[in-house]
Amino acid sequence: MVFQVQPPWLLLLHLIAIAVLLLAVDSVPPAPAPPPAVATVFDDNYVATYGGDGYHLVNQGTQISLTLDKSSGAGFRSKLMYGSGFFHMRIKVPAGYTAGVVTAYYLASEPDWDVQDEVDFEFLGDKDGNPITLQTNVFVGGHGDREQRLRLWFDPAADFHDYSILWNPFHLVIFVDETPVRVLKNLTSRGPEFEFPAKPMRPRGSVWDASDWATDGGRTKVDWARAPFTAAFQGFAVDACAAAAGGGVSSDDCGSPDTWWWNGGEYRRLTAAQQAAYDGVRGNLTYDYCTDNSKKRPVPPPECSFT
Ligand SMILES: *[C@@H]1O[C@H](CO)[C@@H](O)[C@H](O)[C@H]1NC(C)=O
Ligand SMILES: *[C@@H]1O[C@H](CO)[C@@H](O)[C@H](O)[C@H]1NC(C)=O
Repeated sequence: MVFQVQPPWLLLLHLIAIAVLLLAVDSVPPAPAPPPAVATVFDDNYVATYGGDGYHLVNQGTQISLTLDKSSGAGFRSKLMYGSGFFHMRIKVPAGYTAGVVTAYYLASEPDWDVQDEVDFEFLGDKDGNPITLQTNVFVGGHGDREQRLRLWFDPAADFHDYSILWNPFHLVIFVDETPVRVLKNLTSRGPEFEFPAKPMRPRGSVWDASDWATDGGRTKVDWARAPFTAAFQGFAVDACAAAAGGGVSSDDCGSPDTWWWNGGEYRRLTAAQQAAYDGVRGNLTYDYCTDNSKKRPVPPPECSFT
């Protein structure tokens, strides 16, 4: 006999098996990624901080441009402070000769700048033909000196890319598109020497003159004959837990995994694929504070043993 009619209970078993498989596939944790583009306009969540003269900061609704020239740069900030979240922005940095010009997207606490918590993306402009460097940094209680510089695998001036910061009670992860480029674990329970940002922060962006340090260690300044320098920002939805400026993350319950998806189990450590991508990128750091044994930092901070 060639054909065999399956008994109905076997068919049912097959259906159950398929359903279980589908469920299993469905439960593979997704990599954090910005939600689908929603038409959130700048004014919904952000305001200009300077350059709001209609030229240096141009608000086109779902996109803004920030321009630096000799008279001014421009900056913006979110309206609210946040205690945890998946912060994301689409950015296209100024193209061409941009030595001395820094485009920044960062989280910062306030109001005391000398004891601030801060997480930075800083795109360091350069001379024609030299790639733009991405510098990241983390401050806790005003302690910075945690620079890392990365040669990106694309030209950030050629197109928009996603730059994001996952900040939850477990770790802080800096992403370039889908790739983690930096991880700081929350190891504060091991001792006070392990620092982790805890103050409510707000996302900010700016384009500014950093002639004194950004390019060739400050030897190559902004060339104003090449101005203006214009960056564009998109993606003004905010996926974060609003917190009062005075409150801590836990006091505002921004650590809750039930209310806030970015605190959930799948966002508490990198997936195997993310870890592999992260390991690959780390080989392309052009500077890492963890391996800088200059006099400025003879002994690397303790978190460097746990990257
Ligand atoms: C870091 O972890 C500790 C416990 O291990 C927790 O109390 C604290 O709230 C966490 N920090 C943040 C900013 O979530
Ligand atoms: C690292 O840099 C090399 C040389 O520029 C490049 O070929 C490679 O794609 C980079 N890898 C990553 C993961 O960025």
